[in-house]
Amino acid sequence: MTHVPVLLSEVLELLGPRPGEVVVDCTAGRGGHAAELGSRLGAAGTVVLFDLDAGNLAAATARVRALDGGPRVVGVHASFGEFGSRTREALGERGADVVLADLGFSSTQVDDAERGFSFMRDGPLDMRLDPRGAITAAELVQTMPERELMELIRDVGEEPPEVARRIASKVVQERRNGPIDRTVQLAEIVRAAVPAARAHQSGLHPATKTFQALRICVNDELGSLERLLETLARSAAHARDGRASVLNPGARIGIISFHSLEDRPVKRVFAGMVESGTAEHVTRKPVTASEQEIRVNPRSRSAKLRVVRVVRG
Ligand SMILES: C[S@@+](CC[C@H](N)C(=O)[O-])C[C@H]1O[C@@H](n2cnc3c(N)ncnc32)[C@H](O)[C@@H]1O
Repeated sequence: MTHVPVLLSEVLELLGPRPGEVVVDCTAGRGGHAAELGSRLGAAGTVVLFDLDAGNLAAATARVRALDGGPRVVGVHASFGEFGSRTREALGERGADVVLADLGFSSTQVDDAERGFSFMRDGPLDMRLDPRGAITAAELVQTMPERELMELIRDVGEEPPEVARRIASKVVQERRNGPIDRTVQLAEIVRAAVPAARAHQSGLHPATKTFQALRICVNDELGSLERLLETLARSAAHARDGRASVLNPGARIGIISFHSLEDRPVKRVFAGMVESGTAEHVTRKPVTASEQEIRVNPRSRSAKLRVVRVVRG
């Protein structure tokens, strides 16, 4: 399945890319958002694309480069946690006018069983967006102390404490018999640990939240987001004060999150920027998908877009 970009018309309207501007897409994916943003820049514009996944980055770079009369394109195979230094390297003295981050993973990554994200298709329990990453989900499941595993499933998977405790205990019991290194193997262990009544309640597969917690941990998703937000807040302050910055005065920053653990820090940091006078809200409340979009692209159901604009000093 191809990846359908979420909230595309809202992103274009609220981030408002103009001819000659610089766009940084922190999560290039398959280039859905980037191609549309890039097509509004013309040949004088620039698009910088970040992705941890080399395959996605290559696909997105090729897609934006194929635009007729399109912008200069720079691909950066790195985490957006390195936004400051890597954007500076890509742009030199220029700053960004538009920054977008569409968090999480793409449909193409989940569909590829070999990546280990899916509990529906059997594959190695990997989950690294970048194979250069330090630890696989299998290594994590094999080595994490039971208490930490329980806390991860409870706090990052957002499972109720009793369910998290049961899952962690079952995993620790099973790993004594040999490695848990396949996705379906782990999904079955989780299913066996979750009380049947609870499993049916939500309509979700019982392993959904455990897989989410492992993926977030393996890829340090919340740590990278914190680093990105810190850099954006600092850069906005520099831009407002007329100092050298990777953000231009007037830059629009949009972040699309898919769960509350991501949305909370975005909301907090954006509010802090507005309070300290370095940015203004473009969206007061998060923008969500229309019923029509949710019908066509169910993944958009939980998407929340927040946008701020860096003030001109
Ligand atoms: C939801 S997809 C983006 C889809 C894209 N907007 C499109 O329209 O095709 C998220 C992408 O972000 C990448 N990603 C996740 N965490 C990242 C990080 N810390 N740094 C860079 N890329 C990351 C994933 O590999 C994935 O390709």
